[in-house]
Amino acid sequence: MMKILLIHGPNLNLLGKREPGIYGLKSLDEVNVQVKRFAEENEAELKIFQSNSEGALIDAIQDAGEWADGIVINPGAYTHYSYAIRDALAALGLPAIEVHLSNIFAREDFRRHSVISAVVEGTVTGLGWRGYLCAVEGLIGILQDRKQ
Ligand code: DQA
Repeated sequence: MMKILLIHGPNLNLLGKREPGIYGLKSLDEVNVQVKRFAEENEAELKIFQSNSEGALIDAIQDAGEWADGIVINPGAYTHYSYAIRDALAALGLPAIEVHLSNIFAREDFRRHSVISAVVEGTVTGLGWRGYLCAVEGLIGILQDRKQ
């Protein structure tokens, strides 16, 4: 069974309440249930971690090196300026997919640039919570291809 770590960054604990017109009405727990079920249906084990703090996110990425096959990450606002999270993903050397609920290219200028994108396999942006399903599916495919 493939093991995937799903990481939610800052303010994503507020999903459902936080700017619902942009980020949707589902709570983080509701999203997590759906993504976990989808992973299980696709024979992958999903662990989930959320933190508002950069250091805790970096610790989780480093720790994933001990057990995970790949990562799905929504780094929240750290997307736009955290070289430390970028370096942690680059050092990890596992495939990672970046997810954004909103379309970061259709919003404020500062959101258009991701410092994370250069060190991940790909990015899903603007598909709401379903973007996590796309990311998990894509990651499983990438991992299967690499096994062959
Ligand atoms: C986000 C987009 C970021 O710009 C923002 O800071 C977030 C959420 C998204 O999922 O659309 O916190 O990553």
